[in-house]
Amino acid sequence: MKSPKVIYVCRECGATSIRWIGKCPECGAWDSYDEEFQGDEKTKNPKIASNNKAERFSELQLPTYMRTKTGMEELDRVLGGGLVDSSAVLLTGEPGIGKSTLLLQICSELSRSRSVLYVSGEESKGQLKLRAERLGIEGENIYLLTETDVDTILAECTRIHPDVIIIDSVQTLQSQKFASAPGTITQVKEGAMAFINYGKSSGAAVFLVGHVNKEGGISGPKFLEHMVDAVLCFEGERMNSYRIIRAIKNRFGSTNEIGVFEMGDKGLVEIPNPSEVVMAERPRNSSGSCAGCVMQGTRPIITEIQALVTKTAYPSAKRTSDGFDHNRLGLLLAVLEKRMGLKFWENDVYINVAGGIYLNEPSADLSVAMALISGITDKVIPDQLIAFGEIGLAGEIRAVSHIEYRIKEAVRLGFTRILVPNKNLKNEIALPKGVTLTGLTNVRELPDCMSGKAVKD
Ligand code: TYD
Ligand code: MG
Repeated sequence: MKSPKVIYVCRECGATSIRWIGKCPECGAWDSYDEEFQGDEKTKNPKIASNNKAERFSELQLPTYMRTKTGMEELDRVLGGGLVDSSAVLLTGEPGIGKSTLLLQICSELSRSRSVLYVSGEESKGQLKLRAERLGIEGENIYLLTETDVDTILAECTRIHPDVIIIDSVQTLQSQKFASAPGTITQVKEGAMAFINYGKSSGAAVFLVGHVNKEGGISGPKFLEHMVDAVLCFEGERMNSYRIIRAIKNRFGSTNEIGVFEMGDKGLVEIPNPSEVVMAERPRNSSGSCAGCVMQGTRPIITEIQALVTKTAYPSAKRTSDGFDHNRLGLLLAVLEKRMGLKFWENDVYINVAGGIYLNEPSADLSVAMALISGITDKVIPDQLIAFGEIGLAGEIRAVSHIEYRIKEAVRLGFTRILVPNKNLKNEIALPKGVTLTGLTNVRELPDCMSGKAVKD
């Protein structure tokens, strides 16, 4: 028998080499080459020409997606309204973030109307039962299988006919057709493909769990992302109990939505009002803190931006930002230096966004700028003040979208002084008594707003 040919495959980008190399010439990753074997596959079925015909676009029927609620509204929102039949969803996150916990928790609700097969290659049945007991998971239609062999799992799928299959995790899958070790690019890709195909042909929805490496990439093949219908990222600090789930790809819904959870003794608890959580921990009477509002999909979320500005001890001042784009921070500092004469170049600047939210829209500029001004001047911004607006290079304050949603959320949380771009005030906005709305045109007006002096109310 011909012995299988050894090749080396980059785990990050899929590049191949006949020799092991330390640094991938394609993607630049270090120590990313795994040994794989070629030519040991069983002969695949010969391809038969299919009867697939092109159809007129105008004659196509609109699809109706069958969706099942997972019992976690935060997750349903990110999925686009529930789990779609036949879909393949990749759930990624660092080890220990709570992927298995989340999927185990949704089993109960799913099993009310569907049968669920939970396949674990990482934990024993006893461990899973113990965890399920603690989480209060019960249901006749939940099946548990601790297995890593792809064919054995597929055989069980054919026997049980589950409507939902959870594979925890793709990195443990192993197919006998390939001699490579579990976790290598061929094993992960082939294993994932087997279940995606099974889901498409049987109508079952498939959840695939994928661990991510330190750099945030899915360890193993990046191209798993292309094979599935949705990719959900589970994020959070292990030391902090808040967890955020976001879609980075979704064929059945928006990718802007986020779901917020808190990890507690009884597993993950949904946080339907993240703004309240962020604001509850806000320090009082402290300079360098300003409230802002960002849209995450259809939901406005109030955030707290903190800026610490201290005299630098280094030849060039330090800039660190967590939750806000580093380059955007540099740009805002340059605008404030140039247009307001503030001496940030003499100071180290640290920006932090509370609650683990990432400010990925320009409306956060104004609140970041206010926090920076408050940080450098040591003037406290009133607790009831909130600001949102985009800042241009000339220091002008530009209009933002969804202004009514943001104002409504700010009012709901008790803010009484709202700073917005003047351009957003073209239309009348109804406000409850006691709430003032101030329109701003330039960053030079900001110090007056902070001192309580009204500008163009
Ligand atoms: P896990 O879901 O196994 O993470 P992953 O599958 O992403 O690797 O567990 C995440 C962590 O959460 C684990 O360290 C223990 C903790 N945890 C709780 O704090 N409370 C709970 O109720 C459970 C089930 C886990
Ligand atoms: Mg796990």
